[in-house]
Amino acid sequence: MIEIEEITTNKAGICRTILEALPDRFGNQRVVELIVKEAPLLSMLGARDGDDYVGMMTVKRQTPQTIEIRALGVMPDRHRQGIGRALIQEVESYAIQQGAVLLSLKTVGPSDPNPIYQNTRAFYHALGFVQVEELPLWGPDAACLLMVKSLKP
Ligand SMILES: CC(C)(COP(=O)(O)OP(=O)(O)OC[C@H]1O[C@@H](n2cnc3c(N)ncnc32)[C@H](O)[C@@H]1OP(=O)(O)O)[C@@H](O)C(=O)NCCC(=O)NCCS
Repeated sequence: MIEIEEITTNKAGICRTILEALPDRFGNQRVVELIVKEAPLLSMLGARDGDDYVGMMTVKRQTPQTIEIRALGVMPDRHRQGIGRALIQEVESYAIQQGAVLLSLKTVGPSDPNPIYQNTRAFYHALGFVQVEELPLWGPDAACLLMVKSLKP
């Protein structure tokens, strides 16, 4: 039975364990270190199965209206079991409670043909996010795609 809950202790350790289990997606150790470093400063949701966290999400209040999903990962042997969907549903409730009207995230955009990123975009599309634009935020060789979802009914 999966429980979605706020994580308040050992955020960096839980974040590292899950990201390092996803080397295809988070293979760049510099990126992992950046995400792990900021985790203790952010709100974090976890999907717990017994004593183990099998999924996690960090979120950041970017503006009074917008909450950004900074990182999201589910252990590879637990994909396609609804855990990512449950984390998104929980952050939607959290964001609405906080008075936000938009969820945002940045992921690798369609100008990068790697199918693993297509899967990530397919997940976000399935959860109601739309693509806004690719931004030059991550340098000339990395396609940073801004995606958003309105929380207004
Ligand atoms: C993206 C990720 C978080 C999705 O988590 P998940 O628990 O496997 O997703 P869910 O089971 O909740 O999927 C919900 C829906 O999203 C879509 N979806 C999920 N994975 C998909 C895939 N690989 N390809 C196409 N659609 C997909 C489906 O519509 C799915 O519903 P269905 O299983 O009933 O068809 C997970 O694959 C992951 O950790 N990937 C690596 C890290 C990553 O990409 N993080 C996000 C960017 S920071």
